[in-house]
Amino acid sequence: MSDKAVLHFGDQQIELPVLIGSEGEKAVDISRLRDATGLTTYDPSLSNTAVCKSAVTFIDGDLGILRYRGIPIEQFTQSPNFLEVAWLLIFGRLPKQAELDRFSGRLTNNALLHEGMIDQIQHMPANGAPMALLSAAVSSLACYHSQPLAMSDDDAFEEAAARLISKLRTIAACTYRRSVGLPFIYPDPKLRYGANFLHMMFSIPYKQFEVTPEIEEALNLIFILHADHEQNCSTATARVVGSSRANMYASCSAAIGALWGPLHGGANVEVVEMLERIHHGGLSPEDCLKAAKDKANPFKLFGFGHRVYKNYDPRAKILKACCDKVLGQMKVKDPLLDIARKLEEIALADSYFVDRKLYPNVDFYSGIILRSLGIPTDMFTVCFAIGRLPGWISQWREQHDDPTSKILRPRQVYIGNTKQDYVPMEKR
Ligand code: ACO
Repeated sequence: MSDKAVLHFGDQQIELPVLIGSEGEKAVDISRLRDATGLTTYDPSLSNTAVCKSAVTFIDGDLGILRYRGIPIEQFTQSPNFLEVAWLLIFGRLPKQAELDRFSGRLTNNALLHEGMIDQIQHMPANGAPMALLSAAVSSLACYHSQPLAMSDDDAFEEAAARLISKLRTIAACTYRRSVGLPFIYPDPKLRYGANFLHMMFSIPYKQFEVTPEIEEALNLIFILHADHEQNCSTATARVVGSSRANMYASCSAAIGALWGPLHGGANVEVVEMLERIHHGGLSPEDCLKAAKDKANPFKLFGFGHRVYKNYDPRAKILKACCDKVLGQMKVKDPLLDIARKLEEIALADSYFVDRKLYPNVDFYSGIILRSLGIPTDMFTVCFAIGRLPGWISQWREQHDDPTSKILRPRQVYIGNTKQDYVPMEKR
């Protein structure tokens, strides 16, 4: 196999190097193309452009494979431990017990928020969107923790990562408590990551919320399945911001903004709202598919389709099975699950979806599980952000660690006016 591609343009012939990834993926390196030919490339949604080399996560969208640092995600489902996965993503190998204990201890030590942050959240509108509050609060953390990070210092980086992962959970719970007018609940150092989140969400000062092992396991699994997904929209955003050497808080705050959109993480809210409309009789599953197929209608079948997966999203497969298990264990009968199954069945038999290889993605079933855990709909995307944070951190670190990484600054094809003269106001 040649490690060069040849481009013919006019009477020029240019050889371009081909990079080969560890799983055999090939990419034509066009970084010198403009210097050699004056040509740029046009790929407006970056569907066909690798913007970095990364060793964090591997996806094969045709085969429906997702691996964190080489480990298939299915292998994290037995006794899910979110912090173990977070450490693996950030440091590139599974932690030893002592390392995991140290990391976990650092999260505990960093769980409280500065009173100034509490004050900031208290002064936001009570009905403000939780994702807006989350993004603003994460950005503000840079006001309290402004020390520059030496990338080579693993210990300092572990502390910084633990701080952000821990505080995001506290901030997330605070945004919810604020929205329902309840007092903030302090984190409980005896509880593990997910259980502590639920405690801060749902305990009241005189009554601790009881987190059963089933609930804790389901939430851990959801966080793990969202933990990284290579160069998705929010991670790419974190990298764009990070490429200017902006700090980790600024990068993750921007990533939260990107995740909020309904085509990305916000789809988990849209899915449940769609299923609720069907449940309440406002829409039939067939109407829903018809609307999604109508090009004049901006409506999408939310929770379906993916830029990379042209097969069943492996995360959706796990979550679909998890729905049955969790709802069964909790003795919850959710009519939305039956509707989701029906919708999936008719979509997967419809030529529009079959021809376009549109399958359920991670957002299709996650909302049903989150609902069964008592998480309100407007906190679904916040839960996604908590899960995805280790991914943003690991990709941010990888980028900052890479001596060849440069500021991300795409080109454009200009289609505006050619040169024209300024016309003074009185002559217009
Ligand atoms: N409903 C209806 N049609 C769809 C859907 C959908 N959910 N998804 C894709 N299509 C159509 C497109 O309109 C396009 O049709 P065309 O060929 O006739 O023009 C065709 O399928 C191919 O689309 P893609 O190019 O594969 O889509 P793209 O990569 O641009 O977008 C996206 C991917 C944004 C996820 C899209 O599938 C979508 O909008 N899905 C619904 C929102 C959603 O669930 N988002 C969550 C994604 S997972 C995540 O971010 C965590």
